[in-house]
Amino acid sequence: MEKIVKFLKLALSVLTAIVVTIGGLTSSGGEKTPGHTLRLTAVLVSDTHITNELYRRLVFVPGIHDISVNIQPDLFLCAGDNTDNGNEENWKALQRLLNQYLKADEIILALGNHDTWLSYEEDDHEYEPARDNYLRFTNALMGTENTQVYFKREIKGYTFLVMGTEDSTTDATISEAQVQWLAQEMKAAYEAAPDKPIFVVNHHPLNFTHTVGDNMDEHGFADQRINDRVRAILSQYPNVVYISGHQHYALCMAGESSPHPGFQTVEVLDNTVTSLNLPCFTSGDFLEEDNRGTGLLGQGLVLYVYDDCIELWGRNFALNHWVEGFHVTIPLTNVENE
Ligand SMILES: [Fe+2]
Repeated sequence: MEKIVKFLKLALSVLTAIVVTIGGLTSSGGEKTPGHTLRLTAVLVSDTHITNELYRRLVFVPGIHDISVNIQPDLFLCAGDNTDNGNEENWKALQRLLNQYLKADEIILALGNHDTWLSYEEDDHEYEPARDNYLRFTNALMGTENTQVYFKREIKGYTFLVMGTEDSTTDATISEAQVQWLAQEMKAAYEAAPDKPIFVVNHHPLNFTHTVGDNMDEHGFADQRINDRVRAILSQYPNVVYISGHQHYALCMAGESSPHPGFQTVEVLDNTVTSLNLPCFTSGDFLEEDNRGTGLLGQGLVLYVYDDCIELWGRNFALNHWVEGFHVTIPLTNVENE
């Protein structure tokens, strides 16, 4: 049986390669806004789940190639589950692929729950060694010297606050120290530039957003009180963009139907926070019947930042085409004119 599965995977890999090769399907999208100065171009993906397995690379490599050649972003961001397991072998595979194929000025890789596991065995979910692998490999890839799984990056004048779970459970364990750090950094970023967006990256969506807590057993945040405090901190400020993954659901505009009732990629929380939930870029297994509704792999967002708005475009990077109809404009509040 195992041999048959392996053969099917290989056959599917070949088919996928063919689709990717001929997949120069073009649809309109990604246009820059005329008359506006483009301040930042970012590619947002999540859940790349890299291992040494061929069938993952057959989506990942063409996707990264498309990003590098056709988008040429200032920033490449992955919102966690960079690896399928955060062991050295998987991190080395990811490092090799990014070094070889990715061209982006800056990289941000957030910590996901899969990055905190050393293997699929629950007994092997040892946080500290996995966290150390994450810090070692991401510091090398990002050119940073982080000592914590939560950290700040300034990219072309914009603040990115990257959160990270502090335990090896499936949901997010966020410490009191991390919440206080977030509160201080949000305040500092806002006071330094009240009109600019602040980007907060966390692998896990907030509880009861993007159907977390509706369709899954686990919540995004392990502790509801911590979740509520984080949400309250974010909601104090205008122009906040919260970027998560974890759900593995394909891009879905408001009003479109998703295999997961009620799910949409972009939600506005408390009239101020724009919450983005990114699809799974490289799945664990193409043969899984539903793959939690992913259906299409290789998807992510292209984000353009202008002075008065943010534009989001959906793209299937692995197939080199824009996702039909996926375009969202987030107006930015101009605080001085309020
Ligand atoms: Fe994942």
